[in-house]
Amino acid sequence: MTDLNTLKDKTLEAITAAATLEDLDQVRVSALGKKGELTALMKTMGKMAPEERKEFGQAANLIKDAIATALDSRKATLEEEALAAQLASETIDVTQPARPRKKGSIHPITQVTEEAIAIFGEMGFTVAEGPEIETDKLCFDDLNIPTDHPARQMQDTFYMHGYTGDEGSLVLRTHTSPVQVRTMNSQKPPIRVICPGRVFRSDYDATHTPMFHQIEGLVIDERGTKENGGGRAHMGHLKGVLMDFLKAFFQVDEVKIQLRPSYFPFTEPSAEVDIGYEIVNGELKIGQGDKWMEILGCGMVNSRVLENCGIDPEKYQGFAFGMGVERLSMLKYGMPDLRPYFDSDVRWLDHYAFEPLMIPSMTRGLN
Ligand code: DAH
Repeated sequence: MTDLNTLKDKTLEAITAAATLEDLDQVRVSALGKKGELTALMKTMGKMAPEERKEFGQAANLIKDAIATALDSRKATLEEEALAAQLASETIDVTQPARPRKKGSIHPITQVTEEAIAIFGEMGFTVAEGPEIETDKLCFDDLNIPTDHPARQMQDTFYMHGYTGDEGSLVLRTHTSPVQVRTMNSQKPPIRVICPGRVFRSDYDATHTPMFHQIEGLVIDERGTKENGGGRAHMGHLKGVLMDFLKAFFQVDEVKIQLRPSYFPFTEPSAEVDIGYEIVNGELKIGQGDKWMEILGCGMVNSRVLENCGIDPEKYQGFAFGMGVERLSMLKYGMPDLRPYFDSDVRWLDHYAFEPLMIPSMTRGLN
């Protein structure tokens, strides 16, 4: 009997002391298991006198029940504690800021193109597009650049050897000017479009890449007569449009430009436009100053081009201009070398690219 009570006290104490479910199971096995202490004590009953055996048996059963109940309740407590600990260790702090993820950004070429579209859009121009693989005819012939014309060699054309479309052989367009032709072929004057896009030439150095971007402009309206003066699309308008564009683009109040006589087969007369600049404390200031830098080509659309596109030069006239997006971007954002534009180096993009949600507009600002 004393043995039973000692075992009971010892076991109940061990149950309370068990800190883990494993410890508790050890206690169960050592008391109630096949080779456990209570089991061993009960085996001694066989040698007892019947009276003693009955008493011992009843006491042993009560102790067994008491131990089992204590085991169950301790087990429940330990399980609850284990669950609470697991929940505590696995909590997510929802108040923590999200990990900053690398987001996309807007390439300076896209940015400058969007800026130009916003500025010309405000002046009433719409955007026209054409294919990058173009026919010889639209890229050259219709623009008054016949096969034997030296301008064909000037442009370092990539030919699509072996491919001949219905309208002749195919080239990667060397300029956006064929979109002028496409527009005049499909629209009636008055026409006021800009044509941004990729162009290709076999050339590569610090300021030339085999693929680059241009924005072409085209305005066609009534020809000048005694009644309407010079008409509604003469060189004065051309100069005004370009000055307004350059002021808005470079964000300056005044801009100084000069039209220098030049030659393009598709315009007559033709001019190259220089913009005034100066260097102040090592920094390039565009718009003013006594130095000139060439920025774009332009002119009055050659009457032969109008004829090629089914527009009567007796009734209509107009002007066109073409500029390089990379050059505009390099000047505006002070980038010295063109090649990194197309290297996809994230360090360069981190520095020069633009916020994706800052879409340029004349009312919200360009950048
Ligand atoms: N197409 C010319 C080039 O790529 C640029 C150009 C010059 C376009 C004068 C024009 C223009 O529309 O009038 O070199």
